[in-house]
Amino acid sequence: MSDVLAMTTTGVIRGRNDVPPHFRPPAPPRHFVGRDAELAGIRAGGVTVLSGAGGVGKTALALKWLRERGSGDQLYFDLATHDLDALLRAFRLNHVSEDDRAAVFRSLVSRRQFTLLLDNADSADQVTPLLPAQGTVLITSRTRLNLPQACEIDVAPLTDDGRLRQLLDLSYVELPERQARLYRLCAWQSGAFDVPVAAAIAGEPECDVEDALDDLVEKSLLTEVGDYAFRFHELVRAHARTKS
Ligand SMILES: Nc1ncnc2c1ncn2[C@@H]1O[C@H](COP(=O)(O)OP(=O)(O)OP(=O)(O)O)[C@@H](O)[C@H]1O
Ligand SMILES: [Mg+2]
Repeated sequence: MSDVLAMTTTGVIRGRNDVPPHFRPPAPPRHFVGRDAELAGIRAGGVTVLSGAGGVGKTALALKWLRERGSGDQLYFDLATHDLDALLRAFRLNHVSEDDRAAVFRSLVSRRQFTLLLDNADSADQVTPLLPAQGTVLITSRTRLNLPQACEIDVAPLTDDGRLRQLLDLSYVELPERQARLYRLCAWQSGAFDVPVAAAIAGEPECDVEDALDDLVEKSLLTEVGDYAFRFHELVRAHARTKS
């Protein structure tokens, strides 16, 4: 029998005991650099909001902290793409009315003492109903949320102190030729680009280019931003341009 997982207005409900794979935090970037002060500032046992511009490294920072210092079970909820009802159903907490969902979610997080990452918050109103009364919660947002109970950390762009360059060099020399060439060529695109654009730049078939771009994403040299659109982190782009 599974543990009691949540309490609703109508009583206790039971559900799945482990965290469904879809809601486990993904791995942090393999070559994570810097952010020592920010990592030290995240509070275990409290709510921390990581706010900063798009692509600055908020999610990477949260994932790194969870991997290094988070304890116990960890729950990842991406407010931009995940759905609360789908999460509850993945825990086999079925038939929860829309009005009860946030309360059941809070109850689930509290009872299982999950360390929670709420990624991509738009506003305080969006996250407030999801916050458990106690426990460790990390929130990422492109805007400051000014939540009364939270410590808010401004995530600024990384400054290149040479270490990042070194790490990128290490990744770059390990790249197969097609990936290395795409890395160099696509870095001259400003903003996001898709597979057909990259294929045109490289003069190669789209299917080969698609696999190579996926490989660059896996190696944290490129970021996927939506359906087969990609972009470079600004420091990575600067590094790639030095290789041409
Ligand atoms: N400290 C770091 N070390 C290495 N790579 C990093 C670091 N921070 C960010 N990156 C890389 O930069 C890219 C963008 O980072 P991330 O997705 O965390 O940004 P974000 O601030 O969460 O953006 P968004 O607002 O779009 O969600 C990713 O490929 C990530 O792996
Ligand atoms: Mg993010």
